[in-house]
Amino acid sequence: MNKIDSVVNLCARRRVIYPSSELYGSPAGFYNYGPLGAQLKRNVENSWWQRFVRNREDVAGMDGCVLTPRKVWEASGHLAAFNDPLVECKKCKFRERADHLIKQELGAEVEGESLEALRELVKKHSLKCPKCKGELAIGEPFNLMFKTHAGATADESSEAYLRPETAQLIFTDYKTLALAARLQPPFGIAQLGKAFRNEIAPRQFVFRCREFTQYELEYFYNDECPFEIRDGEVLALTAEDEAAKREAKLTKISTLPASKWMQYWLGEYLDWLRGLGLRDLRVRQHVKKELSHYSSDTWDVEFLYAEWGWKELLGIAERGTFDIDSHAKASGKDLSLCDGLGKKFVPRVIEPSGGIDRLLFAILTQAFNEKEEKSEKKTVLSLEASIAPTLACVFPLVKKDGIAEKAREAFGLLKGLAVEYDESGSIGKRYARADEAGTPFCVTVDYQTLEDGTVTLRARDTAKQERVKITELREKIG
Ligand code: GAP
Repeated sequence: MNKIDSVVNLCARRRVIYPSSELYGSPAGFYNYGPLGAQLKRNVENSWWQRFVRNREDVAGMDGCVLTPRKVWEASGHLAAFNDPLVECKKCKFRERADHLIKQELGAEVEGESLEALRELVKKHSLKCPKCKGELAIGEPFNLMFKTHAGATADESSEAYLRPETAQLIFTDYKTLALAARLQPPFGIAQLGKAFRNEIAPRQFVFRCREFTQYELEYFYNDECPFEIRDGEVLALTAEDEAAKREAKLTKISTLPASKWMQYWLGEYLDWLRGLGLRDLRVRQHVKKELSHYSSDTWDVEFLYAEWGWKELLGIAERGTFDIDSHAKASGKDLSLCDGLGKKFVPRVIEPSGGIDRLLFAILTQAFNEKEEKSEKKTVLSLEASIAPTLACVFPLVKKDGIAEKAREAFGLLKGLAVEYDESGSIGKRYARADEAGTPFCVTVDYQTLEDGTVTLRARDTAKQERVKITELREKIG
């Protein structure tokens, strides 16, 4: 079994991440998080919030609505432009994203090409339906937003959409939020929450789903004022640069981004991702046809997802004044700010934006290792201790002779840390269970504990064991 399949299997078996509504056939593109997954997700989300919101004086957080009125998406351009090209078989009605189908059939990267160009390719290569060999037709673009109505009337005035990005909720309110948080440019407003896209063909596990969690930061700056990048080391791209040049046909990565803010945010995010345990990373600039309708320059941070190859983990987009201008025009409100001299200006925006779900899958893939022990395959998830769902498991070697009571005592001393107690099965099985869940430490209480108050502390990645005083455990693992 290849690595990706092994990780997906582990996720399903241990209920880390698994298809939603299994009892009723699991509609594509929806996933639930079980006990380990929910905790891992929360830890990664907290790590982002801590680093990019709590620890920064220039960023404030917000938490906006998921369901939002039509006008927001009309103004943002999503109603008109948030589309994917759809191809349909005239015979069996099979539907697929046109650029994906063409890539699959011809091996050519055609994402971002116009409908006309895609139609031309289908015609030129006489592409047929992969299911029934029927004739293919590329029709109107398919809008990815989920639509509903808020209220008892079902007309255009009550039309509402599940947000396809969290960002718009920041743009509509940015001026009052900045005032409330007493922020002056350059400043950021950050949000972490659910986003929804009716993907034509959700695939590759949580990489492309219909409901997912985004972490987005809109950073507002005044182009006309000279600015400093505070504690900002400028990013050195050399290692990723070389890898990118070798691997990606689309890349134009041989130069640093022109914008200092782009360099700065790439550096910040790469540093954060490395801290989460990711090593196989590179950055890649979008070519023109890949750019979203609101962006003039975008750089992706990509991760090497084992057999899938390099894929987008997050993107940093220069959105300029597009969103604020659009909402000011549509609402008729003045959304400009005043600089120190009383002169009005519309700030430019740079946006680091990523999805938690595909980040978690990257973390799990990077952390996944298999080792052979006594001709048995064992899985070890080498998660960073800072995000592991459980920091340590406490085991009594046996349940009798007061050992379980002593183990409970040790467990009690670790209260407040992410610690679990486990007394079922052989000690080997318990170690294996903990390794597979990515638990960095196991603490075993045995007969010697009763004599000298020490326990065995075992480290997951090296399987090395040392004797440690119960009273020193907390300091050792915390
Ligand atoms: N506000 C900008 C924005 O939404 P995007 O590139 O469309 O930009 C940002 O999405 C990030 O959200 C992506 O880098 C990816 O990590 C995540 N994402 C987008 N679509 C997704 C999907 N269908 N499933 C899971 N994650 C997705």
